[in-house]
Amino acid sequence: LAVSLLIIAGAYVLGSIPFAVVVSRLMGLQDPRTFGSKNPGATNVLRTGNKKAALLTLVGDALKGWAAVWLAKMLVSGFALDTWVVAAAAVAVFLGHLYPVFLGFKGGKGVATALGVLLGLQPLLALATVATWLIVAYASKYSSLAAIMAAIFAPLYYLFGGNIAWRLEPGIAFAIVVISVMLCFRHSANISRLMKGTEPRIGASKQKNK
Ligand code: G3P
Repeated sequence: LAVSLLIIAGAYVLGSIPFAVVVSRLMGLQDPRTFGSKNPGATNVLRTGNKKAALLTLVGDALKGWAAVWLAKMLVSGFALDTWVVAAAAVAVFLGHLYPVFLGFKGGKGVATALGVLLGLQPLLALATVATWLIVAYASKYSSLAAIMAAIFAPLYYLFGGNIAWRLEPGIAFAIVVISVMLCFRHSANISRLMKGTEPRIGASKQKNK
């Protein structure tokens, strides 16, 4: 049990590293919590116009999600623990991003971290989910709408691909559903902007967006 709790706590702390804030500080950019949507995430960093910083944020936030799941998988097999520990670590790294201990528990929306988690859990599923994000983003130019649609489809893909493309595991299914639901809730401000037609599109750029 001690090892399991350490794995889960470690995942949470790893998830708490806010790459949007770290990258922006290192690159001398404005803190993403002070402009645009005020969200510490790759989409908002992109609103500075600095694509490299946005990409680094995306990669960093995804990497921590992937690393937490990968490490949990290694330790779970090494210590012969239950798969539910991997599922809990997946949720914990995501929660770390949303409620980071390093930012007074005010974090991001979890899109990049959820992507990393999916990559760690099931690369094919991550691929299908990214494809969904790309199609919606390309068609609508809304980063948030793409994330919401991808979050709705990811659990469905997992269930329908189960026992065909991968072995269905209840713990993993549970983690994916929890992450998807929380991700959608985190986008409530985006959803109301989308409905009012005031959500900024990708590339609309600059810091005036609310
Ligand atoms: O990555 C979060 C994205 O889906 C929305 O971000 O800054 O437009 O609220 P933002």
